[in-house]
Amino acid sequence: MSEPVTPSRILQTGTAFWASKTLLSAVEIGVFTELAKGPASFTNLSGRLGLHPRSARDFLDALVALGFLKREGDVYSNSPDSDQFLDRKKPSYVGGILEMANHRLFHHWAHLTEALRTGLPQNEMKGGGEGVFETLYADPARLKEFLAAMSGVSRGSNMEIARKFPWKECKTFVDVGTAQGDLAVQIALANPHLEGSGFDLPEVAPVFEEYVEAAGAAGRVSFRPGDFFTDPLPKADVILMGHILHDWDLATKKMLITKAYEALPEGGSLIIYEALIDDDRSQNAFGLMMSLNMLIETPGGFDFSGADCASWMKEAGFRDTRVEHLVGPDSMIIATK
Ligand SMILES: C[S@@+](CC[C@H](N)C(=O)[O-])C[C@H]1O[C@@H](n2cnc3c(N)ncnc32)[C@H](O)[C@@H]1O
Repeated sequence: MSEPVTPSRILQTGTAFWASKTLLSAVEIGVFTELAKGPASFTNLSGRLGLHPRSARDFLDALVALGFLKREGDVYSNSPDSDQFLDRKKPSYVGGILEMANHRLFHHWAHLTEALRTGLPQNEMKGGGEGVFETLYADPARLKEFLAAMSGVSRGSNMEIARKFPWKECKTFVDVGTAQGDLAVQIALANPHLEGSGFDLPEVAPVFEEYVEAAGAAGRVSFRPGDFFTDPLPKADVILMGHILHDWDLATKKMLITKAYEALPEGGSLIIYEALIDDDRSQNAFGLMMSLNMLIETPGGFDFSGADCASWMKEAGFRDTRVEHLVGPDSMIIATK
């Protein structure tokens, strides 16, 4: 017998922003950081968080029902994943991306329909402002938030790349568009024989250096300031680009792949990783919505499939390519020169 047709999936997705905003506000208010200090009673917790009596019970219990908090009697505590990943004081904190979603993306996505009709960005650039990176980088606090957000969203895949790629045969690597440098740090920590660098715009240097120092990788990971539009890429055995190509239009994507080809030795590898869309463009909903996010955030960026990227890599001269899944929606595509 076939399943009865019901409206539940439609209604769940249609109101999914309620769940999303409940979690984003919880991160903003610091619920998980507060509870990481220890379980707390309702009265104590709502007082410490400064919640209005009208909202407190429903808000905290909604977080219980969504699985982000636990409650025994009247005492609330973090669920294991909230405690590990949403306590701002732990190095495993991934909430940077949620802070950015709360401050920026949530508001910009309210204008998705306009973006769909006009093809134009709906972020700070709207109405003729500067490019996304110029806008972000004009304000040091916003820059730091953005770079930390990148580490949060990329950490799981970074650790997987550090473990999965056959690093034994290489000596050097460069991570292009490195942000805080988490990928370079994870590769260096997991592979003590390697020396690497992070290449990014000069404004990123202090944030990178602080992060790499705190992670204990400062001796083996250095910063290379540069602009990939005007400078060649630094030479290395392996070049990596995480969430870079999707920011740009097709001509820029191909230009960056060609610059990587030119900087690699014969036998060297280019690793590109993103929330790669499946080749049939029907399964990786996150990858497809990430592409819509690029519509909101950039003038020409879009996400792509492994097959798309492989064809650009072959066009640039690479011999062979393979796609490997990382974590969640992310996959990497490895090309050999
Ligand atoms: C979307 S972030 C990706 C960060 C990181 N690779 C990751 O996956 O988490 C894009 C990065 O590209 C850098 N970037 C943008 N324009 C650049 C340019 N012209 N030259 C070098 N880096 C640039 C940004 O500063 C930023 O760190």
